[in-house]
Amino acid sequence: MCGIAAYIGQKEAAPIVLEAIKKLEYRGYDSCGIVTLNDSLTCKKGTGKIEDVDKQVNFLSLRGNVGMGHTRWATHGEPSDRNAHPHFSCDNNIAIVHNGIIENSEELKTILVKSGHNFRSETDTEVVVHLIEELINEGNSMEEAFVKTLKLIEGAFAIVAMNKNEPNKLYAVKQSSPLVLGIGENEIFIASDVLPIQPYTNKVVYLQDEDFVVITKDNYEIKNLSKIKVNREVTILNENLEEISKGNFEHFMLKEIYEQPETIKRAFRGRIDKDNAKFGGLNISNEQLKKIKRIVLTGCGTSWHACLVGGSYFQEISKIAAQVEYASEFRYKNPVLGEDDLLIVLSQSGETADSIAAIQEAKSKNVKTIGLVNVVGSSIARMVDGGIYLHAGHEIGVASTKTFTSHLTALYLLSIYLGRINGNLSKEKAKEMLNDLEKLPEKINEVFSSVDEIKKIASKYFKSKNALYLGRHYNFPVALEGALKLKEISYIHAEGYPAAEMKHGPIALIDENMPVIVIAPEDRLYSKVMSNIQEVKSRKGKVIVVTTDATKNGFDEVILIPKVSEFLMPIISVIPVQLLAYYIAKERGCDIDKPRNLAKSVTVE
Ligand code: F6R
Repeated sequence: MCGIAAYIGQKEAAPIVLEAIKKLEYRGYDSCGIVTLNDSLTCKKGTGKIEDVDKQVNFLSLRGNVGMGHTRWATHGEPSDRNAHPHFSCDNNIAIVHNGIIENSEELKTILVKSGHNFRSETDTEVVVHLIEELINEGNSMEEAFVKTLKLIEGAFAIVAMNKNEPNKLYAVKQSSPLVLGIGENEIFIASDVLPIQPYTNKVVYLQDEDFVVITKDNYEIKNLSKIKVNREVTILNENLEEISKGNFEHFMLKEIYEQPETIKRAFRGRIDKDNAKFGGLNISNEQLKKIKRIVLTGCGTSWHACLVGGSYFQEISKIAAQVEYASEFRYKNPVLGEDDLLIVLSQSGETADSIAAIQEAKSKNVKTIGLVNVVGSSIARMVDGGIYLHAGHEIGVASTKTFTSHLTALYLLSIYLGRINGNLSKEKAKEMLNDLEKLPEKINEVFSSVDEIKKIASKYFKSKNALYLGRHYNFPVALEGALKLKEISYIHAEGYPAAEMKHGPIALIDENMPVIVIAPEDRLYSKVMSNIQEVKSRKGKVIVVTTDATKNGFDEVILIPKVSEFLMPIISVIPVQLLAYYIAKERGCDIDKPRNLAKSVTVE
């Protein structure tokens, strides 16, 4: 993970780099640092979030028109000042920032230590800067030394380097971790994604694997590792500059929860055509799509939960067999894949390393791939055969909320589309389902009227040590999602279970201290879920029911949600569990937008 950013131009670098790494803080916030060049390399760094470190070190006191910065999610070495990037050569003439993992760092370190290099951190990164130094000492130029170093290191990396003796240059390389150039007038920006670049220029170059770039303020030259020049297209960003602010909300997460009526609209806007869905970027012909016999859905975390709902959509709506796989497990199973299969990858960031690896696995077996991605121009968006953008806008809260419901919206539309083209879904049914979808944003607004009830429940249960979430069929992934939200932002241990599975083990946990959140809309499984609730009640568990049934009493707490079709219910029922997690975390005084140990974009395996 980690975010890296750099600037070379005519302005002061530190304020630009500081703003840039703040925008990349979603990628990790264990430590941060900035280096600028002004006669010599001057660096400030520290442990913790950027705002706090800045108060201690005053990043803006750094001078110079060339600089780079880093915000870290620790892999090798604990979060500490000494492990914070940038890292330096022994003579302090070379500095680097790195996102990724150097897999053979230990063996390289052993060799370098024997050659007399003095390591100051426990990071895998530091070997890179010492290797460059070693190769320069052997008589190589900075460029030669960097390229030779890249041939010695293994793993995933986006690296930016600067050398005091070449004050007008930055060097950058990309291998498996993302890196983007922003091309301005007499200035060039480098960052892990376009977010920090957008305020300055809409001209960006997405670097590709093995791209090595030498950058001056008014030029950049991209070569491959064999030193052959390569041309990369300049992309003009046409995305409106969206203001990243919390508005009147206390946290981004809350704002993003409340954005959902709008973000769902954005996921379906322009994609409804009377009795079918329509898409601009699938890039796979209807003839090919008709032949699909099995859909494999994959993703991580919340995106994986959305895959579970999607799998049921494809089975029930399009009548296509569907299989859901954790992206992190998929490639290690030697999956049997053939030309009748389609891989659908879900990702908010479009940068999740395991999801990228799943696509590579499918591609190696000639399987077509579709990405449902939020971040425009991200790695996944660029590597899949076709895609559907969620258009949910930036999701800043580390815990995903709005992109879960956008993913479900896009999956619902895609399952309608596939059902229509393979003849398994009638025009009438498709039309009815699309009408239902168009009414959904209003229904979500109705859920928000339960917020006072949710706050009350949060204030009653926030001291709980554990929680159980139950749901069936379409609401089982919501149970998983509710448990994940609670765990990650409030640090309360929680588990999601299919309601009927509870009696096969977890029921042993139930006592008067165990809140059990049951997602129980009045659908075809309602009476069965009611029986499961009785099983909890008889063991003195505290039952919090999310239901459409206004007449029900006898539960400890009820959160009412509006009635919608069974297919759309998870888009509604997830909202109370998002809010519940939010208000419980708030009661506990947690750092909601930046929960401990997490990062929004998981770019390591
Ligand atoms: C949980 C959460 C994570 C992500 C996961 C995948 O709230 O945000 O579980 O869902 O890391 O990330 P993307 O969707 O960016 O591939």
